[in-house]
Amino acid sequence: MTPDNQSRYGTVSRVLHWGMAVLLLWQLMSSAAHYFLEDTAIEAFFWPTHKPLGFLLLVLVFIRLIWAVINLAKRPPSLTKAAAAGHLALYGFMFIVPSLALLRQYGAGRAFEPFGLPVFSGFEGEKIKWMIDLGSDFHGELGWAFFAVIIGHISMAVWHKFKDTEQDVLPRMYK
Ligand code: HEM
Ligand code: HEM
Repeated sequence: MTPDNQSRYGTVSRVLHWGMAVLLLWQLMSSAAHYFLEDTAIEAFFWPTHKPLGFLLLVLVFIRLIWAVINLAKRPPSLTKAAAAGHLALYGFMFIVPSLALLRQYGAGRAFEPFGLPVFSGFEGEKIKWMIDLGSDFHGELGWAFFAVIIGHISMAVWHKFKDTEQDVLPRMYK
């Protein structure tokens, strides 16, 4: 187990970074199957994982943020203010996108039990319209925007590697 230091991220940060990257790739597949392949066997395979996995990602980002704050002074410094802002934006998306869906789920009076865990029980009676509207207006849209920003993040990481004038940052997170 190596801790974070000025030139590279440590074991826990890497496991969180790459573990969540794999889970988010799966989340992209379930979203795309829902959007493009409705009523197909592919959607039937992926879609049931969307809510529980989305919830797990929300739990993981809490842990990741706490870990990042604890280790902030020890971590490799951001190359530019734009890079720091980009990473902050990724954290913003990691929080807001699943939170909006949970809000809608709650407001609609629907119980939520990811992996059999009773997070909240449903209720009878009037639904909470503002919660449903927030989720319906923004969850999917911001979800797609999140995936676009991730593609930007990956492109920047690779661009830094191949542009001679830039510092290669990949070894900070990989190797
Ligand atoms: C799939 C979703 C991904 C998300 C949400 C994500 C998010 C982040 C965040 C927030 C950081 C800042 C460090 C931290 O707090 O963990 C970071 C760093 C980094 N990521 Fe990703 N990342 C993703 C995928 C990738 C991929 C596929 C690559 C490789 C091409 C990559 C390469 C890097 C590198 C090299 C750093 C260190 C950059 C530096 O310190 O300047 N990331 N990532
Ligand atoms: C990081 C986590 C998440 C990401 C990136 C994400 C992403 C997305 C995206 C891109 C869509 C649009 C798909 C389409 O247009 O058909 C979507 C739809 C949906 N998501 Fe998520 N999601 C996440 C978490 C969650 C959670 C935690 C729940 C439930 C508690 C949820 C419930 C839904 C539902 C019901 C839809 C279909 C209705 C709609 O388009 O809003 N998602 N999600």
